[in-house]
Amino acid sequence: MSEGRSLSTSWWRDGVLYQIYPRSFGDSDGDGIGDLRGITARLDHLEWLGIDGIWLNPTMPSPNDDWGYDVADFVGVHPELGTLEDLDELIAEAGRRGIRVLLDLVPNHTSDRHAWFQDALGGRDARHRDFYVWADPKPDGSPPNNWQSSFGGTAWTLDEPSGQCYLHNFLPTQPDLNWWSEDVREAFDEILRFWFARGVAGFRIDVTHGIVNDRELRDDPVATAEDHPLIQARGHQQKFSMNRPEVHDVLRRWRVLADAADPKRILVGETYVLELDQLIPFYGAGEDELNLAFNFLFVHAELDAAAMRAIVEAMEELLPAVSWPVYTGSNHDAGRLASRWAGGDPERARVALMMLLTLRGTPFLYYGDEIGLPDVPLDPATALDPVPHRTGQPERNRDPCRTPMPWSAEPGAGFTEPGVEPWLPFGDIAAHNVAAQRDDAGSTLHFTRDLIALRRAAPDLRSGSYETLPAPAGVWAYRRGDGHAVVLNLSAGEATVDGLEGTVALATDRARDGEAVAGALTLAPSQGFVVDLA
Ligand code: GLC
Ligand code: MG
Repeated sequence: MSEGRSLSTSWWRDGVLYQIYPRSFGDSDGDGIGDLRGITARLDHLEWLGIDGIWLNPTMPSPNDDWGYDVADFVGVHPELGTLEDLDELIAEAGRRGIRVLLDLVPNHTSDRHAWFQDALGGRDARHRDFYVWADPKPDGSPPNNWQSSFGGTAWTLDEPSGQCYLHNFLPTQPDLNWWSEDVREAFDEILRFWFARGVAGFRIDVTHGIVNDRELRDDPVATAEDHPLIQARGHQQKFSMNRPEVHDVLRRWRVLADAADPKRILVGETYVLELDQLIPFYGAGEDELNLAFNFLFVHAELDAAAMRAIVEAMEELLPAVSWPVYTGSNHDAGRLASRWAGGDPERARVALMMLLTLRGTPFLYYGDEIGLPDVPLDPATALDPVPHRTGQPERNRDPCRTPMPWSAEPGAGFTEPGVEPWLPFGDIAAHNVAAQRDDAGSTLHFTRDLIALRRAAPDLRSGSYETLPAPAGVWAYRRGDGHAVVLNLSAGEATVDGLEGTVALATDRARDGEAVAGALTLAPSQGFVVDLA
């Protein structure tokens, strides 16, 4: 059997993946902090929902300056989250339910408390000095170049004893690794092998686009009026500080390791680029780099028919035939789709979920998406996230999308013991919780579960081709395979789509499930339909 054919039925193409923020899923030991055993205790929910794989945000030891994205030991487990044995048990218990476990790998930088950096601080001759990116300040004492940290200010900090600066594209306590060093590459080969041997199904790779920095440390160009608004807001194009072409050598090297494992493991990249022609190359020749590359243009698009359709059509056109798209609407940085896309309107959250779960590509849900959980309004002045404080931009607070999962309306929300204060506040647990929605067949939770089940039952919705169908402005309609059509009214007005014959397989308004469709289908605002064309 050819490689292409075997991959086309692989679990990660066919499946639905689910992102878990481990500190906020389930607290097994009553300290107010979610942990690995707390995730294991909730696997039944994920099995019931129909999830095939989970990605855990960082689980490794960390001083938590950036909540786990400052790793102090790449082959351990953070004591607040549990032990290696707890992780083994989670992997085994998930496996028993047909659920794979992906970890978060953070190769761009370490914590400054990592043993490598502590050693590197010993001086220019230290064994691990070259694991990091060092440069002399300019003669006037200013930083070596104009690179800016994504978290505000210069990307360089002076190490006074040695008189050199080290690079940090994020916090000063997150020194960038030097991916020009063969020793760094070999160290990560070992880290990948270590986790593969423990049974992880692969990795979500943090800041994939950024790990290799320009060897000559050339200045980043200033943003222009043509750049995406998020790049204009940053002020510079990260052309040399990140996004170097040599990253592809590293990805090919990792893909060889992932493909050599039995069963094969997968690599999912945080490929934070805002142009599709920069995204596509992360798939390499199609099957020799990342398996999936997150599409941030899609994440940051408005929930608007024309805008989203254009992104998906371009992906369909540009992506190598053997490669596979991935779509998500929420994560621990960008916020939750129920707020960002749907503005708190539950109907709109449902139509967004219908879109995610019916596009050609692997959907990633973020914990809570299945109940239409919105962001929790929190005061940025007391944020645990360092970003609003360092940047002075309160709107960049990421705490609101990292709050504990509301399992029930009981004290402790089913997340922790009654009376225990969770590490981040609960939101309105009476308004949104899993238990109440499980008891209500008309809930968003049942809607999400039914969509996942429909996707599993209908090969068209998993692997069928994508084709845009004619639709009035504000409506996005597409055919999947020969036998299914999806019609999404993303506008604020009523709309009618013509030319559909079949049966409603699933509607955002559950009262319309099973309805016959003969010609015209009329949609109220934020309504969506999956139509079985048979
Ligand atoms: C990625 C993570 C984000 C983190 C940053 C620095 O963007 O998703 O949460 O702060 O990398 O590691
Ligand atoms: Mg705990």
